[in-house]
Amino acid sequence: MNTYPAKISESYKISLQNYLNGEGESALRVAYELGRRSITEEMSSVNLVATHQEALLHILKETPASENSSRLIQASWQFLLESLSPFEMTIRGYRETLNTLQISEERYRRLIDTARDVIFSLSPQGNIRSLNPVFEDLTGFARSQWLGKSFESRIHPDDLNFSRLIFQRILRGETPPAFELRIEAKSGEYLTGEFTTAPQFEEGEVIGAFGIARDVTERRHAQEQMRSLAKRVVNAQEEERRRLARELHDDLCQWLSGMKLSLNLLEENLPGPRTLRKTLRALKEEVNGKIGDIRRLAVSLRPSALDDFGLVVALSRLSEDCERLHKIAITFQANGPVLEHYHHEVETALYRITQEGLSNMGKHSRASRGKVSISHVGTSVTLDIEDDGIGFDKTKLEQQRIPGQGLGFVSMNERTMLLGGAFRVDSRQNGGTKIHVAIPMESYSQ
Ligand SMILES: Nc1ncnc2c1ncn2[C@@H]1O[C@H](COP(=O)(O)OP(=O)(O)OP(=O)(O)O)[C@@H](O)[C@H]1O
Ligand SMILES: [Mg+2]
Repeated sequence: MNTYPAKISESYKISLQNYLNGEGESALRVAYELGRRSITEEMSSVNLVATHQEALLHILKETPASENSSRLIQASWQFLLESLSPFEMTIRGYRETLNTLQISEERYRRLIDTARDVIFSLSPQGNIRSLNPVFEDLTGFARSQWLGKSFESRIHPDDLNFSRLIFQRILRGETPPAFELRIEAKSGEYLTGEFTTAPQFEEGEVIGAFGIARDVTERRHAQEQMRSLAKRVVNAQEEERRRLARELHDDLCQWLSGMKLSLNLLEENLPGPRTLRKTLRALKEEVNGKIGDIRRLAVSLRPSALDDFGLVVALSRLSEDCERLHKIAITFQANGPVLEHYHHEVETALYRITQEGLSNMGKHSRASRGKVSISHVGTSVTLDIEDDGIGFDKTKLEQQRIPGQGLGFVSMNERTMLLGGAFRVDSRQNGGTKIHVAIPMESYSQ
């Protein structure tokens, strides 16, 4: 026995003796305290009973024969019970904790079993360790068909590399931001899941991953429908513009040109006074001016340069027009193998965005220099429009926005988004303005 339990046995013997000598309550308090100390010293209740037995035997040996030993044995019983009571309380507490743990584990399990999202865990090899029941309702597979299998088996081929990269990050102990993956259901249909995942640690080591996946298939579907509807609206607008442009050009312009010829004839054959001729000439110039205006309007309504000469020429013409009209020195650049034509939706969007960007430059920037560049980098077409003008404060602009006014940026952004691209505006007061558009070409190869 080590020294401290020896000390306890000694104290036990003395206090038991005191109790038997009639010390009563105070000796019992010591018995309780000794029981408590035994627990902190990690002694078992058996140790304590043995200590009791030893102390009692010792006391009985020292007791004069005249003393009634059975009375002493009987009395010491109470002392032993008191010293054991801390053990009893500890066991009771332990039982309660166990019970609470069982209840909370049951609750936790029920939560997982009734959750509407899939809750899963993976081994470090990427095999599925656990899945909750909703998985079966969503995918149509029995859980047993997936447990132990690699998580990769039913992921859409296009999402596979991405999912592997994410899993490697988790194995390195990182918690990636939420992401989406397409999973093939038993029916062959792909479901879109929004995943939130994290590493599972044990003693500082990653021992796997766990995560929650929410079925967002319907939400994505609705978004796609909205997108296609918006696209149809944009296309219908473009079509309407073309029709208007054709009308203006073919009808009104022709009519005015005819009128100009008639005025010419009238001027040549007019015998009357000079003042009348002068008025007629002024009238002719006005008609001429209007023809120019209508032509320009028709051109801006319908980017015919796009159809006739392709994207690069059309954008460089827009830049030249802006330079002439607003007296801003604009350089135009086409970098890399920019094609003459892209899908008509892409071309129209890039044309309209440049048109609006340059119109803003002319209206708002007070710039002396500007630049428009288009590049074909990898699988994206990018467009940059920049100026060295007065710029603007983006947050102020957001706050002060009056509904229905200032739709240029909104429309540029929407056109880009509809093509799955990225739109960014960088501007600072007196720091110029930069617009960057990138449109992925994967789905628009012509
Ligand atoms: N190149 C620029 N330089 C300085 N300020 C700009 C520039 N482009 C846009 N802005 C600022 O951003 C605001 C919003 O531009 P946006 O094109 O959205 O609307 P708008 O040009 O005012 O109106 P709309 O385009 O509908 O005719 C402008 O009013 C202007 O204050
Ligand atoms: Mg504008």
